[in-house]
Amino acid sequence: MWTLWAMLICLAGGHLASATLCQTYGPIPGIPGIPGQPGSDGLDGENGPKGEQGLPGQGGSERGERGPPGAPGAPGKVGPMGIPGPPGLPGVMGMPGPIGEPGDYQATSKSAFSAARSSSSYPRRDVPVRFERIITNQNGHYENRYGRFTCRVPGTYYFTYHVTSRGNLCLSIKKGRGSSKGDRVVTFCDYVHSSFQVTTGGVVLKVAMNESVWLEPTEKNSLVGLEGSDSIFSGFLIFPEA
Ligand SMILES: *[C@@H]1O[C@H](CO)[C@@H](O)[C@H](O)[C@H]1NC(C)=O
Repeated sequence: MWTLWAMLICLAGGHLASATLCQTYGPIPGIPGIPGQPGSDGLDGENGPKGEQGLPGQGGSERGERGPPGAPGAPGKVGPMGIPGPPGLPGVMGMPGPIGEPGDYQATSKSAFSAARSSSSYPRRDVPVRFERIITNQNGHYENRYGRFTCRVPGTYYFTYHVTSRGNLCLSIKKGRGSSKGDRVVTFCDYVHSSFQVTTGGVVLKVAMNESVWLEPTEKNSLVGLEGSDSIFSGFLIFPEA
């Protein structure tokens, strides 16, 4: 065994002196040489067999990055109907219509009345004087219940009154619609004491459809209608509106 050691070292040494030494000391073991440099890495081995499946991972706490937007969904259901919009602008005026049939002048364009008051008591102030006894009422445009003439033939009229008074009397001719207080057209006043007299007033007035005309006293209201001392209110159409 020792001999083999020496031989190996002597062979590895190569020097003549060493060879002599080897021969001389025979089986004395030499000093171990310095370890050689590590060899270069070997080639990669083949892949090993697939390992067993690992345990499920713990839920990660960090959010992943936002993914790309998905495809648009299908359209939704139809919503409820909205509130109606504001009314549109009026349309343009139409063409004038054809000329109408000739009217019946006898029936349509007549209006005239006269009515008397038959009462010894004075009428109330600021309300229409009722001339309840009809003398003439062509087409019935004078309403004796209310003491009002109401226009059914628009046009120009003449209104007049002749009334007996026994003292101070102020009478207005008024015009208005419906049961309104109306507008004073003219007012006439007479101041006398303790004697009968007839006072009178009148006006030409343009009256529109459904407008009314009546007489109304102020606090000076000594109007009477007695046998032989009448008070009457009259009106008639002069010409209808074109
Ligand atoms: C006039 O009054 C009558 C009802 O009394 C009504 O039918 C008509 O529309 C009125 N006409 C006008 C222009 O006011």
